[in-house]
Amino acid sequence: MTPETFKGRSLLTWLDYTEAEIRYLLDVSKQVKGEKQRGEVHQRFTGKTIALLFEKRSTRTRCAFETAFGEEGGHPVFLSTADIQLGAKESIEDTARVLGRMFNAIQFRGFKQATVEALAQFSGVPVYNGLTDTFHPTQALADILTIEENFGQSRGKKLCFVGDGRNNVARSLMVICSKLGVHFTIITPPSLNPDAGLLTQCLSMAAASGAAIRITEDTAEVKGADAIYTDVWVSMGEEAKREARFRLLSPYQVNQALMDKTGRGDSIFLHCLPAVKGEEVTPEVIDGPQSRAWDEAENRKHTIKAIMLATLG
Ligand code: CP
Ligand code: NVA
Repeated sequence: MTPETFKGRSLLTWLDYTEAEIRYLLDVSKQVKGEKQRGEVHQRFTGKTIALLFEKRSTRTRCAFETAFGEEGGHPVFLSTADIQLGAKESIEDTARVLGRMFNAIQFRGFKQATVEALAQFSGVPVYNGLTDTFHPTQALADILTIEENFGQSRGKKLCFVGDGRNNVARSLMVICSKLGVHFTIITPPSLNPDAGLLTQCLSMAAASGAAIRITEDTAEVKGADAIYTDVWVSMGEEAKREARFRLLSPYQVNQALMDKTGRGDSIFLHCLPAVKGEEVTPEVIDGPQSRAWDEAENRKHTIKAIMLATLG
């Protein structure tokens, strides 16, 4: 793996990256986290700019991109859709062309995967997917890093996602686990299963990596899990589905009884955040000793810095 492999590349989904490439990004993430902990200052983005485009709200992703880029000497520019013409008065293609003339990279958070794809196609600079309805790839890298920090490795570990099995976070985890040989089980009502097309792709990648990928509605399948993961029942943009989701997902709340079903005292709890405490997870779990949600949030910054360094550095 040479740095040249990454130069100028976008990150739209982990489907576009090999196992070795993802492993390289994890190594760089560990390196930059170590630098931060030792108080080292680096200026690897001096003279560079990044446009941070947001159609949806964000705390972690925005702050991770802004601080990771800024503390390396770069200049991040936050642009919400209340500020710019994206898709309103101007086509995505034209906005992409203009931003590509002014910025070294673009981050996009919003609704359609097609938008982030168009930005990458027409801007000519690396584009990072900071969450769409379809995928949340930068989150998944931070999640794997957190698992590796706890267990030394992720390969062969069992991760169970309990909740809305077709959302952006579950789908991204399914892809990255399939690539890296992490056993991944989605526990969700059948009406919230991830789409068959993505599952087929993941099963074929898993056959190569040795990952076991399973979809089930049975919460007893958390038995033996190293990590239990959940996310909100109602993702951004789906607010109208709130009542239906509540009915469907109430039996899938991650509470201490569910954590105990792993049969292991050392299993950890993960959540991408923001969390609705009392819905998808109880306060005793997310604020309890098994939770690694806060390390996971911090790891967003180190992993995002690693992705930008590899593709822009
Ligand atoms: N996990 C995550 O993406 O958080 P934000 O929505 O706050 O960016
Ligand atoms: N699935 C959630 C993730 C938030 C980080 C959403 O899309 O709102």
